[in-house]
Amino acid sequence: MVQDGIILSNVLLTEDTYRMEIACDSSHAKPGQFVQVEVPGYFLRRPISICEITSHGLVLVYKVVGQGTQKMAEMKEGNINLFGPLGTGFPVEAKEHVVLMGGGVGVPPLYETAKQYLHQGTKVDVVLGFNTKNQAIYLEEFEALGARVTVASMDGSIGVKGTVIDAMQEKEIPGDFILACGPLPMLKAIQNTYTKGYISLEARMACGMGACMGCVVKDQEGHSLRVCKDGPVFEIGKVAL
Ligand SMILES: Cc1cc2nc3c(=O)[nH]c(=O)nc-3n(C[C@H](O)[C@H](O)[C@H](O)COP(=O)(O)OP(=O)(O)OC[C@H]3O[C@@H](n4cnc5c(N)ncnc54)[C@H](O)[C@@H]3O)c2cc1C
Ligand code: FES
Repeated sequence: MVQDGIILSNVLLTEDTYRMEIACDSSHAKPGQFVQVEVPGYFLRRPISICEITSHGLVLVYKVVGQGTQKMAEMKEGNINLFGPLGTGFPVEAKEHVVLMGGGVGVPPLYETAKQYLHQGTKVDVVLGFNTKNQAIYLEEFEALGARVTVASMDGSIGVKGTVIDAMQEKEIPGDFILACGPLPMLKAIQNTYTKGYISLEARMACGMGACMGCVVKDQEGHSLRVCKDGPVFEIGKVAL
């Protein structure tokens, strides 16, 4: 669905990461899905995960990495065109306990996921990894939801020094059911360590709706999977990483 939304706010969270709140139709949105954001002056839309589904729209949290996201950071209150929600989301299954593992800008889609698991009474551990303290986002927000939050940083400036997997081991958090989003090396390590749950992948995208085959990855049998349509959320072990 292509729709016009209204930017309600677009504010800096950390050194290069912004939070944009949009009034739009969010009635069909699920945690882990994404929207393709139209950026004025650019032909290709930018895929950004849904961080939060509100009663009146969506929240996106994005890092400035290039020209498109820089332009997004400069967008003021006013109109914005979105295509979505798109892709598969994180399933919200009946579980006693889940672990949400996020790295860098893989953290945002876990927020709505945590909210929905906590809402149904599931105990939620959130394990968040960053390169350094200044890049840490959403720690208080997850705590305010009622999740148990563990932080890791590669330089040791906040939380456990090392990766999210190091933090899981140091804090003895059982990895019974994982929902993860983050950089590829992190997802590979998670897929090699845990057997139950889901990971959310990133890929360069064009159409965002399964038509152009621009975002294809392979499953373990060598079959093609489109990250935009068959994913971005896949069961752990399904994709050959
Ligand atoms: C399903 C999905 C969800 C995402 N969710 C988020 C999110 O919640 N927050 C966030 O900060 N980032 C997210 N990303 C990454 C985000 O799409 C890119 O950082 C962004 O498109 C970069 O655009 P740019 O013009 O600033 O960078 P440039 O490097 O100038 O972009 C050039 C082109 O490459 C594409 N591109 C560049 N990097 C990526 C990338 N990592 N993934 C996909 N396309 C890329 C751009 O869309 C553009 O078409 C997500 C990506 C995907 C696929
Ligand atoms: S981006 Fe076109 S098929 Fe995925």
